[in-house]
Order: sequence, then C-alpha cells, then structure tokens
Amino acid sequence: MNQAAPAPKENQGHPVVRIDARLKVTGQASYPADIATANVAYGALATSTVARGKVSALHTKDARAVPGVLDIVTYGDMDKTETPKFGNTGASSIGPLHDKTIFHDGQIIALVVAESFEAAEEAAMLIRADYEDEPPSASFDSNGTKMEPAAGKNPMFKEDAKAGDFDAAWANAAVKIDQKYSTPTQHHNPIELFSTTAMWQGDQLTIHEPSQNVTGWKVELARQLKLDPANVRIISPYIGGAFGSKGPMTARTAIVAIAAQRIGRPVRCVVSRMQAFGTQTYRAETRHRIRIGAGKDGRITAFGHEGWEVTSRPDPYVVGGTSATARMYDYGSVLTQVSLVHADRNTPGYMRSPPETPYVYALENAMDEMAVALGMDPVEFRRINEPQKEPIGGKPFSSRSLIKCYDQAAEAFGWAKREPKAGSMRDGDWLVGMGCATAIYPTAAAPCAARVRLTADGEVRVQCGSHEIGTGVRTIAGQMAAERLGVGMDKISVEMGDSALPPAPVSGGSISTASVCSAVMKACDAVREKLFTAAAGKDGPLAGSGNAKLDMADGKIVAETGKSAKLADVFKAMQVGAIEEYAEFAPKGASPEALNKLYAGQPEFHGGEGDEDSVKYAFGAEFVEVRINRHTHEIRVPRMVGAFAAGRIMNTRTARSQLMGGMIWGIGQALHEATEIDQRTARYVNRDLQDYLVPVNADIKQVDVILVPEVDHEVNPAGVKGLGELGNVGTAAAVASAVYHATGKRIRDLPIRIEHLI
Ligand code: MOS
Repeated sequence: MNQAAPAPKENQGHPVVRIDARLKVTGQASYPADIATANVAYGALATSTVARGKVSALHTKDARAVPGVLDIVTYGDMDKTETPKFGNTGASSIGPLHDKTIFHDGQIIALVVAESFEAAEEAAMLIRADYEDEPPSASFDSNGTKMEPAAGKNPMFKEDAKAGDFDAAWANAAVKIDQKYSTPTQHHNPIELFSTTAMWQGDQLTIHEPSQNVTGWKVELARQLKLDPANVRIISPYIGGAFGSKGPMTARTAIVAIAAQRIGRPVRCVVSRMQAFGTQTYRAETRHRIRIGAGKDGRITAFGHEGWEVTSRPDPYVVGGTSATARMYDYGSVLTQVSLVHADRNTPGYMRSPPETPYVYALENAMDEMAVALGMDPVEFRRINEPQKEPIGGKPFSSRSLIKCYDQAAEAFGWAKREPKAGSMRDGDWLVGMGCATAIYPTAAAPCAARVRLTADGEVRVQCGSHEIGTGVRTIAGQMAAERLGVGMDKISVEMGDSALPPAPVSGGSISTASVCSAVMKACDAVREKLFTAAAGKDGPLAGSGNAKLDMADGKIVAETGKSAKLADVFKAMQVGAIEEYAEFAPKGASPEALNKLYAGQPEFHGGEGDEDSVKYAFGAEFVEVRINRHTHEIRVPRMVGAFAAGRIMNTRTARSQLMGGMIWGIGQALHEATEIDQRTARYVNRDLQDYLVPVNADIKQVDVILVPEVDHEVNPAGVKGLGELGNVGTAAAVASAVYHATGKRIRDLPIRIEHLI
C-alpha cells in the first residue's frame, strides 16, 4: 500500500493530490503577509509589562524620535470605534486601547507605524508605560481567584450532563477509582506568524490576514469600525497553520485598520512569536477529578467527571468537554460539573478539539487505570462498556464504529503480543509499554453557500468563502464538483478564503468538509438539473430520456440507455456559454433564520449531541508503543496506530494526513507542550520555539492510519463526519497508558517528562 495514499475502501473517495500542493511546496502560495503591497508601512506592537492594573502614563517621545516613525496609535485613538466582542467571531471583549485597564501581561498598549519594520520594532521597544498595578492572579490557586459554575456562562456550554443516581451507584460500586488529572497551558505556534495588512480605497477597507472566518470577521470588523459590511473585505487564501488560532478575530485587526486610515497608506503588522503569546488565544490549563465505579464484571455503574478551567477576567471562555466524556460509554449513572476561574490572563480560545483534548485525556487515562484496577484488558474493558444509546439523553448514535476501530487498530498494532503486567516488557535497556485510548469528536455542520460555474468546454469554477487551513478542503470541494459534474480534476478551479465569495461558516469544529461539500453538491445538482432539462427536452440531444435517468460522466451527459450527449452540444442547444448556480445549504434542524445568520457571520452549528433524533460523533482507537530508557528515562514513541471511522471519507490522502497530523500533535501534548507561567507576574515565560517544545521529525517514527469504512446517511447530505480534530484526541491518554505499562508509574499530569519517571 502506498502509505501516503491509502487505497479507498467502501464509501471512501480517491486520494487526489491537493490542487494547491505544488504551490505550497514551491513557495508560490502567498500567505496574507506575503501579498505584494505598494507603499506599505510597517506596524509593531508595544505591550504591557504588568498583568493587572491601569496605565497611568504612556511615554512615546523616544519612540516618536526614531527615524522613520510615522504614527503611534494608542489610548484615545480608538475612541470612535466599538470595543471588540467575545464569542465565536471575536477572541476577547478586551479592547486594549479603549480604556487603560490592564487585564493581562502582554496586552497591547500601542501600535507604532514606521517606514520600515526595523524602525517600528525599535520604536515599539522604546515606549514606556507607568502603571498603577496590583499583584495578579496567574491561574488556579492564586490569591483572588474563585471557582464558579461554568454551565450557562457561555452559549457553547449550556449544562452539566447528568444521568441516573450517581451517588448511590458510586457508594455501591465494587471496584472504584477516584483520581485527579491535569493538562497544561498550551499556546498556538503556527509556523505562519499572526499578521494583519490593512488598506483603504476611499471608504473601502481590505484586510489581508490569516483567517478561519472571513465572513464573520467582515461583519465584526464592520461593526467595530462602524462601516457597512459591504465595504469590508477579508482575504486569506492560504494559511500556514491555524488550528483555532485564526478563528476568532483579535483586537489587533481594527487597530491596524485605524493606523492605515490615519496615515493614508497600507499598514502591515506581523506579530512577533513572543508577542503572540499575549495577543492571541491559547488553550488554558485544566484540572479534572474522575470517578469510575464498576462491578467486578467490569460493567461501569458510575461515572463522575469534574473539570476546572481558567479564563480571563471579563470573558467566560469554557470548553466543557464533559459533553463528550459523559456520552462515551455505557455508564449507568453520570455526574459532571465544570467550574471556571477568572484570572489575570488573556482570554483563552479554541485549539484543535478544544473540549475533547483535555477532557478525553483525563477520561481515557482513568479508563486505563480502571482496567488495571479490574485486572482487565483495556480494550476488553471498553468493549464491554460499549453503549447502545448515549447515556445522557438516551438517543441513538447516528453511527458508531468504535469497536471496529479497536479491532482493526489492535490487530495492526499487534496488541495480542502485549504482556498485561506493567513493567514486564523489555528490550535491552529499554522498557517497552503499550497503551491505547479512544478518540471522539462531535460531527456538526453549519449553513454554507457556494457558487459553481460550468462552461461548454467542461471547465468548472467552484467559489466558496471557506478557508484552506491546511486540511485540503479546497481540493475536496473540487472533488465533489468533479464527481457531480463528471469532469476530471484538471478541469476544476476552486476559489476560497475571501469574504467577497459566497459565505461559509468559520472553518472550525471540523465542520468544513460536511458544510462546504453539502453546499457545493447542491449547486452542482442545480447545474445538472438545468443541463438535464435541456438535454432531455423535446429539442435536446437526449430528448425523451427523463431527467431522473441522466447522469454526468467523462464530460458528457449520459442516459441510462447508454446514449450520451457532449456537454458542448447541450450548451449549444441551450444557447448559453456557461451555467452558474448559487446554492445555500442548511443542515437538518436549522432555524428559519439560519441562512440570514450565515450572511451575518453567525452560522448555527447543528449536530453533535444537540440533535433531536440522534447524537453524531466520529470515533477512533489509538495505540501507542513507548520505549523508556532504563538509565536516562528518556521516552521514545517508535510507533502509533490509529483506526478511525468518520462516515464518508472524501479523500483518503487528505484524511490520513489530518489524522496523522493530529496523532503527532498528540505526542506533543503527551510529552512536550506546556506554557510555563510565572505565578508572581502572570507572565508566560517560554515564549519562543526554543523553550516551547513541540515534536520534531526525530520524535516521530512509524505512524499508521487506518480508515475504517462507515456509512452514515443521517449526519448530512454528503454523509461526511468531520475528522480534522479527531486524531489528536486519544493520543495523550494512549501515551500515558503506555508509560504506565512500561514503568508501573501512572502519570496524571501532562506533559509527561523525564523527571516524572525518575
Ligand atoms: Mo478548530 S479549534 O475548531 O479551529
């Protein structure tokens, strides 16, 4: 098998190479900060050096004296604009230049604009502020932080899931574990830095900025700047890593736009990696208490999951991953509670599988612990607790292939060769450990629009304001059109990443393939209908065939009888040169306002556990081997196998790539990534890629991805479940379980490092 392109199985699409692959690997794909811009001036941020208090004076004289400095945007200069909003479109309600309150270390206090990047940087470093500051609260356990219930504080997390009588079941359970787990702060470090380029032509504003949500940003930026959204355009055709970091718009975008307006020139601001830690979003640290009670037969009777999260002072960001953990197994009874702490920190935000990554890590590490307590094989333990219905609402799963995933991954991994006893497998100086864990991610879709044009010579143009965040969605949208319109990929062009295109939802929550493909499919079907009507009409080349009996293939319209007509002939009969159709898709359960909300940049998500008739999730099983050196305790991961089922797979190459990338990130979460916070100053201290560790090539050996066939007609018209955020969900727990198996040491706090094993 060609590793990079698994052969498609049932309900799986061809491993078409990404249509932008060559552009990306040859450096021809232009990222927003690369766009050639005449007469551009450069911006650099000045940021606060305290985490809590007020700016009492700002000294900009030295900065203004730097040769080449054109302007400094600071307090007072944003007064005519609206403050940012926190939510799906905005990263935080903190408007850093709207008032002098400091909410966190590294908060923007000014933007310097200069003729050169160097002059802007130099001047920004010369800006000094006086503060009336107070000791900050950095995280959990700090002075002045207090826990509050999270449910209902944020529309994304409505309630704590509960089922049955947990207390009674827990009291009566024959075997139990009650343990605490934690995950660290993690910061977005895409290779492409965060940037904004703003340019005005009269009252028309164009922003080049890497974005996962061009339509949402257009509307939100127009609100902040009091412009007609029709006069704002966000352009973001290529993105060098996003993972949620480029989903919500930050305060910087409006500040750079105002700077460009003030100096009457385009302004480009590329944020340094160090400053991104304080001005972008991040994954906040979490804590968990997990209680699992079971009978001696291994059937779970009680599941308790309490979670604690950290957010900023003003914004109730919460991920609340108990929604997923409460529906994972057949628990009998469930008790969950999520609590939130407000600290002097910037507002956290989405990072790949935001709820599942920390919460499922805690659950799955605990599941392994429970299997050990029961003296049971961890795979067998999951098998006997496989639910028929989800435990909270009693709804069926639209499809659930978890056990198939376990079976296929276990076989490929060689799980049968595992000696059950911890510490019993060795290879010379290396302790060998094998572990596994479940991956889960909710399947949702949102309204989406698309335009498809077919010309007489079979050229197809697909337009959709979605975003190529590296997943291959541009290619996949093209594949959908190629398939429906019966042309080759060489005839397809796809435009994305521009708010002037038909609106698409935020490229987050793993909804893009389902949402975009459903819209493209609908537009293609409208094109087909027009062609079929003409072809089968009384003067058409396939007169009398009946539309329902026609299809498109090989650049032709083909009748069931085998008769066919060339596209060019049908176009000639129609006397048109091109057919263009605009389609809007709304998922099942969408409200009557759903499409209006799409244009307003506030698309509704439908799916996951929120649907009436069934709950919708993609699942996977991940197996990991670790080797731990007996003397140095260094931890190596020679191989991983993941098997995943996610409905229809549009493209086995891009799907594998997403899942493999997720598993590799999971290694980082297990063993490397953590932002260190100075508790006295509430400052992130490892703000660069030297000290913020991520896996490098040498850390990653064999990674195998198995795409388990699954058919699900319920999720959406395309039958697609999202998988972009599935792969990294189980990995960290699988590693922790493998580390336990190798050493007998249960590490519950991530990341697992050498010092934990000494
Ligand atoms: Mo993703 S964290 O939903 O961009």
